[in-house]
Amino acid sequence: MSVIFPKLKTPSNLDVEITTACNLKCRHCYNFWQHNEGEDPGKSVKMMSIEQADNLIEQIIENKIFHVVLTGGECMTNYKVLTHFMRELSAVNVSFSMNSNLMLATPEKMSELAELGLPHTLTSLNSYVPEINDKMVSQEGAFEKIVAGIKCAVDAGIRVSVNMIITQLNKTHVYKTGLLLAELGVTNMFTTRMVPSTSAGPELSKELQVSPDEEKKLILDEAIRVRDETGINIGSLIQYPVCFLKDVAKYRDYVGRGCPAGKKMLCINADGVTEACSHDHKDYGNVFTDGVKKCWENMMEWRDDSLIPPICLKCSWLKYCEGACRLYTKTPNGMDLLAEDPRSLPDTSMLESDYTEMVTEKEFIAPERLRWRKEDDFTLVNIRGARVFELDDKIADFLIKCQETSKIFTSDDFPGSKNELGRLLELWIVETTDGATLEPVSTRVTTLQHTEKKGS
Ligand SMILES: C[S@@+](CC[C@H](N)C(=O)[O-])C[C@H]1O[C@@H](n2cnc3c(N)ncnc32)[C@H](O)[C@@H]1O
Ligand code: SF4
Ligand code: SF4
Repeated sequence: MSVIFPKLKTPSNLDVEITTACNLKCRHCYNFWQHNEGEDPGKSVKMMSIEQADNLIEQIIENKIFHVVLTGGECMTNYKVLTHFMRELSAVNVSFSMNSNLMLATPEKMSELAELGLPHTLTSLNSYVPEINDKMVSQEGAFEKIVAGIKCAVDAGIRVSVNMIITQLNKTHVYKTGLLLAELGVTNMFTTRMVPSTSAGPELSKELQVSPDEEKKLILDEAIRVRDETGINIGSLIQYPVCFLKDVAKYRDYVGRGCPAGKKMLCINADGVTEACSHDHKDYGNVFTDGVKKCWENMMEWRDDSLIPPICLKCSWLKYCEGACRLYTKTPNGMDLLAEDPRSLPDTSMLESDYTEMVTEKEFIAPERLRWRKEDDFTLVNIRGARVFELDDKIADFLIKCQETSKIFTSDDFPGSKNELGRLLELWIVETTDGATLEPVSTRVTTLQHTEKKGS
């Protein structure tokens, strides 16, 4: 079994690029740079067709995939396929979300997507200063359109998260951008370090990347200030090495995401070619000719620990850090360039809690939203969206039965220990009948659960 996460038979979630076409040209973006490799950039644009979407939907059902992120390029430029996916996935209880720059959002379109079941969208806004945002995306007027798009989505009842890619151009803008986002009704602000794009080359990366010191002072500390003042949820879409963060309690919002590439997530390009991560360009086969399962098997190196650096394999924080970003390294199995000496880290026992008292004399349910998948030696439960957790079969069978029969149970009925039950409550797998939740202890790494609960 892998050290990080048990090997899944098929991915639990997909990133599906429904087009490579885009109405912006963000200088930091892998999509923009891959279009500019050839002499005629427009020529290489790819659009997924309805027939290809149907083929993929069949495979999603067959492989019991829980969650799909519809992305691009700009996915709203392939609107017919976007809405087709949403309609068909809703019908078969597969959850989905959308990554869009919202430049094409209108009240009518956002209402239509909300009606099709879209609960959440991730969008990109890089600065509160229109000129800087527009410079980063190479288009004048983009700021106004994106802000209008965010308002349309929020008004339609779609939760909006904003991704702010941090470069030299906007590194001092985190605080004020955060205030603007909170005012717009955005639930999550991600300040994400720029992954060196394999197609952009090292020169551009050097020009745009910020230093490790700036990363903490200007980005993380300022985002924490926004969180504390406005209540917005914060985080990063790319895991930081825990040994870079060091102060796990202070930077708890940045620990625990890990890297889903090739372990839980499969990325599918508009022409069907698969990658473990959209920032990487290693081809693991084509879903339309090889099928999802074969492509997943081809990327075993992402889940057999062979890409994890030896020093990380010995580190007690590996489960929370996963060796951080596999693309932010000099070699595929090298250390993340921000990683430091793991000996400076506190003991992981700071994450352990005794839940015994908290679950005694309480009543529990297994909520309807839970979805299940049998694996070889365990059961995978989907908590919500892309979030999954591995459960012992005995505990899973008990919870499935409780869910099917709407049974209320106590810690005496539960087939595991009280501590295990407390952990499931904290992870939001079980709920109490009185609606009480476990507030995460501030020094424990429970960020993602906390964030999603607040954002829900
Ligand atoms: C490729 S975009 C596609 C969706 C949509 N066009 C958008 O911009 O939101 C998906 C996400 O990747 C992020 N992204 C692009 N280039 C990146 C890079 N070099 N490092 C980290 N994230 C990046 C974007 O900010 C966006 O949130
Ligand atoms: S980040 Fe999104 S909007 Fe910007 S170029 Fe890439 S795909 Fe287009
Ligand atoms: S040594 Fe590796 S696993 Fe440990 S904290 Fe650093 S990057 Fe993460």
